Amino acid sequence: MYTVPKLKSYTTAALDKAVETLRAALEQEWKAVKNESEWKAFRDRWMARKNGILTEVNDLWLKAAPKDAKRAVGQRVNEIKKQVEDSVHRAESLYKDAAGTRVALDAVDITLPGIRRPLGAEHPVIKTVHEIVSVFRNLGYSVQEGPVIETDYYNFEALNFPPNHPARDTQDTLFIAGQESKPQRERLLLRTHTSPVQIRTVEKMKPPIRIVIPGTVHRNDPPDASHSPMFHQIEGLAVDTNITFRDLKGTLDHAMKALFGSSARTSFRPSFFPFTEPSAEMMVSCFICGGTGKRGSEPCRPCKQTGWIEILGCGMVDPNVYGFVDYDPKKVSGFAFGMGADRIAILKYGVDDIQLFFNGDVRFLEQFG
Ligand code: PHE
Repeated sequence: MYTVPKLKSYTTAALDKAVETLRAALEQEWKAVKNESEWKAFRDRWMARKNGILTEVNDLWLKAAPKDAKRAVGQRVNEIKKQVEDSVHRAESLYKDAAGTRVALDAVDITLPGIRRPLGAEHPVIKTVHEIVSVFRNLGYSVQEGPVIETDYYNFEALNFPPNHPARDTQDTLFIAGQESKPQRERLLLRTHTSPVQIRTVEKMKPPIRIVIPGTVHRNDPPDASHSPMFHQIEGLAVDTNITFRDLKGTLDHAMKALFGSSARTSFRPSFFPFTEPSAEMMVSCFICGGTGKRGSEPCRPCKQTGWIEILGCGMVDPNVYGFVDYDPKKVSGFAFGMGADRIAILKYGVDDIQLFFNGDVRFLEQFG
C-alpha cells in the first residue's frame, strides 16, 4: 500500500520520481473501486483533511521544501490535487456505471426475442370430455359438477343401493379412513361414479332437468392397460313429463353419431343398476372396423372381433330414486346414463394403455397438441 515518503532531495529528477510513484498508486487504486463503500474508503484515503494522502503530500513535500524549491513543489502538488480529485470522480462513475450495467442486465430488454414457452395441449381425456359435453350442450343440456369426496348417502343410499346390498360390491369403493364412528350414510368415500351428482342436482332443481356431469371418479382397481384407480365419467340426466325409453335411445343414438360419425349405430342390451329400471348397456358399432370385426385380414382388437363396443350404462330413473328427492314419480319420468371418457378417448385415439394418459410423459401428451 502506497505511503507518502519524505523527500530527501528536491531535484527535478527526484520530484519526478516521487510524483511518478504516487500517480502509479493513484491509478491502480481508483480503477479497483467496485462499490460505494470502497469508493468512500478510496476518497478518504486520498482526500481526508486529517491524514489524507493529499494532506501528507502538502505537509511532507511542500511545507518541508526549502525556499527555492517551493515553487516547483507547489506546482506539482497542485497538479496532484487535481489528479486525485479527478480520480475520485472517475472511480465514482466507474462503480456506478458497473452497477448500472448490472441493473440493465437484470431488467427486461424489450428488444430481445423473448423466451417462448412451449404451448400446452389439451389433455386427450379432457378433450374427449369437452367434445362429449358439447354434444349434449347442443341438445340443451347444462353442466353440473359435484364433490369427488362423497358421502355414502349420495354415492349409494340415495341411488337406491341399500346398506349391505351386493350391488355395492361391484363398485370397488375406496373409503376414507377413520369414519367408523359416523352413521353409515355420513361416512366419506371417493365417489365411484358421477351418479351422486344426479341426486345433488335434483335436490336443488325442479323438472324439467337436462344435465351432464363430467368428473373424476375412483375405484379400487389395480392399474393395468385398461384400468386406472382414477378415471373420468360423464353422467347425463333428463327428467321431465312423459320421458320414455325412446327418448333415451334417440338421444344416445344421436350423441354417438355426433361423436363418432353418422355411420355409427347403437345397440342396447339389458343390464342392472339399482337406480335405473329398466337398465341397459349401450353398445356402439366399432368405429375402428366399422362393425365388421376385422381390419383387413387382421382381427379387430378394440371390439374383440364382435363389431360392437360397450360404451355406457343407462336406464330409466328408478321411481325409488324420486322418493329420495321429493319428486312425484307419477308425474315425472326420466333417463340417466353414464359413460367412461377415458375408454372413449382410448378408442378414439387408438391408445393401447390407459396408463399413458396419467403418467405425464410429455412425449405422449404433445402428440395431441
Ligand atoms: N353410474 C353407473 C356406473 O358407474 C353408470 C350409469 C349411470 C348407469 C347412469 C345408469 C345410469 O357404472
